[in-house]
Amino acid sequence: MLHSEVTLHSEVRATSPLPTVVAAARPVPRHVAIIMDGNGRWAKRAGLPRSEGHRAGAESVRAISRHARQLGVQALTLYAFSEQNWGRPAAEVHALFALLVDFLRSEREELHHNQIRLVAIGNTGKLPLPARLALQAVVAETAHYTGMTLALCLSYGGREDMVQATQLLARQVQAGELSPAAISADHISRALWTGRIGCDPDLVIRTSGEQRLSNFLLWDAAYAEFVFCAQDWPDFREQAFSDALQEYANRQRRFGVVAA
Ligand code: FPP
Repeated sequence: MLHSEVTLHSEVRATSPLPTVVAAARPVPRHVAIIMDGNGRWAKRAGLPRSEGHRAGAESVRAISRHARQLGVQALTLYAFSEQNWGRPAAEVHALFALLVDFLRSEREELHHNQIRLVAIGNTGKLPLPARLALQAVVAETAHYTGMTLALCLSYGGREDMVQATQLLARQVQAGELSPAAISADHISRALWTGRIGCDPDLVIRTSGEQRLSNFLLWDAAYAEFVFCAQDWPDFREQAFSDALQEYANRQRRFGVVAA
């Protein structure tokens, strides 16, 4: 069952003919992606500034990364800063990137210890220099690890990713390296920033009770299961993550074909 599910997944990513088998969700999803929402509301309820909500949210990032690795998740993608988040007040943006630098400093050793490969997804050239430098260093020194991939989406948007992937492929066509008719779904997957992760998400979780995608993994989540949780992100810890994985395990994934 496990083997057939893995095969099924890669067939879907490559959009070869639709699979003829129907699989229950793998007990542990290979790739979990999370929209970490509700930091501001958590802070407001506690009578704290929004920055304190983000600080508590960073603690959830630490806890969930560790827990995901322990449960055998192979890739964890976190929506940490969207392209649209640049429109937030400068002080909040500054606080978020300060937290990122702090996270990279404090988690560096643990990433090495647990063989976690860090990848940055998005238009990271726009990040403040200290964040960019800290990110580049940890990404480079963990690039060879296979324990788990931790993908941080920073200055990311699903539409923006599709635009840059389209531009990349157009340049290849213009250079005579690719013919328009040869462009496949696999080419697009690989041209996306998210191509660095290596597989589509099996499960997308959103916290804080909101039920929308907000420009997250628009191409990649084509066959993902969705779990929406009531907790705000700072309250989303190990048990909540395990519960979401349990809900996923009870799902039947059909990939567009008919159940047996
Ligand atoms: C959404 O909550 C959260 C964000 C925009 C930022 C997520 C950032 C962190 C969890 C902390 C730092 C990250 C790392 C990787 C160390 P919101 O502010 O939109 O909450 P609201 O909808 O309640 O206002």
